[in-house]
Amino acid sequence: MRDLLPDQTPTWALLESAARLTTQRHGYQRVVTPVLEPTELFSHAVGEGTDIVDKEMYTFTDKGDRSVTLRPEATASVVRAYFEGGLHQAPQPVRVWYEGPMFRYDRPQAGRYRQFFQFGVEAIGDDSPGLDVEVIEMAGEWLDACGVTGVSLQLNSIGDATCRPTYREALRDYFRTHLDQMCQDDRRRFDINPLRMLDCKEPSCTPFHAGAPIPVDYLCDACREHHGRVLEGLAALGIEHEDNPRLVRGLDYYTRTAFEFWHLDLEGAQNALGGGGRYDGLAEVLGFDATPGVGFAMGSDRVVLAVQRAGAEVSADVVEVYLIPAVAGADAVVLQAARDLRREGRSAVVGHSARSLKARMRQAQKLGSPCVIIVGEDELAAGTLTLRDMTSGEQVAAKSDQLIEQVDAILGVPAVVGE
Ligand code: HAM
Repeated sequence: MRDLLPDQTPTWALLESAARLTTQRHGYQRVVTPVLEPTELFSHAVGEGTDIVDKEMYTFTDKGDRSVTLRPEATASVVRAYFEGGLHQAPQPVRVWYEGPMFRYDRPQAGRYRQFFQFGVEAIGDDSPGLDVEVIEMAGEWLDACGVTGVSLQLNSIGDATCRPTYREALRDYFRTHLDQMCQDDRRRFDINPLRMLDCKEPSCTPFHAGAPIPVDYLCDACREHHGRVLEGLAALGIEHEDNPRLVRGLDYYTRTAFEFWHLDLEGAQNALGGGGRYDGLAEVLGFDATPGVGFAMGSDRVVLAVQRAGAEVSADVVEVYLIPAVAGADAVVLQAARDLRREGRSAVVGHSARSLKARMRQAQKLGSPCVIIVGEDELAAGTLTLRDMTSGEQVAAKSDQLIEQVDAILGVPAVVGE
């Protein structure tokens, strides 16, 4: 888990404002769910046999002897909240978005952290293929708004409860002959969840993936039609994608549409910027009425990395005015001036330290403030403040009632006509 320090947070703020803009334009409303949930919510939703549930969850027993888990993802929580909060009785589909920290106990490396952040959306209560297209379009728009380029959309359809059993059997038939050469985990997955074998990263297992049957060859008519309509929708919007018949995703709840956004030059780092898909069976798995849904989650840490590697780091806002009370008696005047400036929408910081005037001027310069205000003995006696234009080095004296006007002249803010 890592700290995000001020040299990074402006880029994060860019991602957050892009998320607000994208979701607002598409009519999605924010939800906030707890970071801690009962363990079985995730073990049921994400599925036994997945790496997330088997290896990566932060699970512990709380003081009430309940098993709880720091959320590894938020879709299960959002579906739970949809029912517990009565959103299933609202007009459908319900369109929501979220952002926040998720937790997975994985081996940390560039782009992979134990606490990481996701921005996600979920459209719940409608199984139209148009919604799959809608969420894919939104993810792409968000990446665009963040300034990320060089991304490829990987798309697949992995069937549903009707056709999945046949596919699962086909996978077992295929893997059965190789099982003795495969890892311990895969031998266990063979019985409980053979789809997960396609996701195994063990070098002993990956050579067998290429020859395995692919889900699209086993789709039932309804799934095939759904997939066709998703493809039509994407084509209508001019959204390019790559058909990836081996994309199965690392969570069990997906049905039909599954997609990921891959960054093409995040070398060495994890290249999946985000992913999602349809989860029409999830609500039932969690014990609620059968309800379809579709959504995605984007990994903000990786998107920040992509923005930084593209050299497009966002710099922090510069403080416009730095005020220095140069003698003890100047505090009241300076505090009031700073407050007046902020009330007029300018940013102002007071250099409270007892260090010399020169040291504090240097500090203002380092912060990049274009205007410095100094109040010393002379200013107190004259009832004025000294304003220094840090670019030209020129200084002017101003009375309190001319402060904003004079500061704006230095900042280059145009005067309001008629005032
Ligand atoms: P996911 O593919 O597990 O999907 O995670 C989505 C994204 O979160 C990944 O593509 C990656 O960018 C980021 N991510 C995952 N683990 C880490 C990590 N350890 N460090 C940094 N970033 C990470 C889900 O979580 C689903 N809930 C998505 C979804 C929403 N499906 C439907 N609705």
